[in-house]
Amino acid sequence: MDSPIPHITIESIVIGSDGVASHIVNCVELLSSPRLGHTKAVFEVEYSSVRYIAKCWSFDRRESAADEFMVYERLHELRPSGFEFFTRLVFSGDIICSSKFPEGRILLLEKVPGEQLLYLWNSLSFTEKAHVFRECSNAVRTLRSISIRLVDSGRHNVLYDRMSGKVTLVDLEAIVDLGAGEEVTSLNPELVSIFGATNMSQFIHGG
Ligand SMILES: Nc1ncnc2c1ncn2[C@@H]1O[C@H](COP(=O)(O)OP(=O)(O)OP(=O)(O)O)[C@@H](O)[C@H]1O
Ligand SMILES: [Mg+2]
Repeated sequence: MDSPIPHITIESIVIGSDGVASHIVNCVELLSSPRLGHTKAVFEVEYSSVRYIAKCWSFDRRESAADEFMVYERLHELRPSGFEFFTRLVFSGDIICSSKFPEGRILLLEKVPGEQLLYLWNSLSFTEKAHVFRECSNAVRTLRSISIRLVDSGRHNVLYDRMSGKVTLVDLEAIVDLGAGEEVTSLNPELVSIFGATNMSQFIHGG
């Protein structure tokens, strides 16, 4: 049975490629700073009655969109069933029509539960901090296995859900592609940005 064609409203973003529309999402809330204007925006959106996260970039920032897309593609190739510490890409495309974000590239991501670690960190127990550290270490190790280093990691880009213990690394657009064959084993750059150099050893040795 065909699903009904959703109505286009002032909240809608029509997505497609080569000028042909294939999906319509409706914005529910702007999550990023309004100061970014139409250069970049992150929205919570609704698509087929389910909430997702939509990241939008203007065409002059298409490389950032392509980099984040590439990381999710490599993660998918590595393990099609997904990783518990990353969200998943649903689809990507061009913005064909929208008053919310008139033109550019868009990635639709699964929405994960949790809050930015930045706002939770000081209220966490040692056990919770050690758990978050282990999950982030596993996430960064996974990124190394696909030759990626993040250059914008920090507590603002880690989501933590205290209820379920779920830890998710988001924001994979600022990266260095280490290239095949170059072995970089240190997880430190990202982990130091998230946990601080002085905190690291207690989690490694005492957690
Ligand atoms: N998959 C997701 N599920 C739930 N929330 C998300 C998801 N992706 C992003 N967010 C929320 O939206 C915020 C902005 O997303 P993201 O960090 O990817 O974009 P950004 O514009 O690059 O942010 P910034 O430059 O502030 O780091 C995140 O900090 C997080 O709170
Ligand atoms: Mg971010």
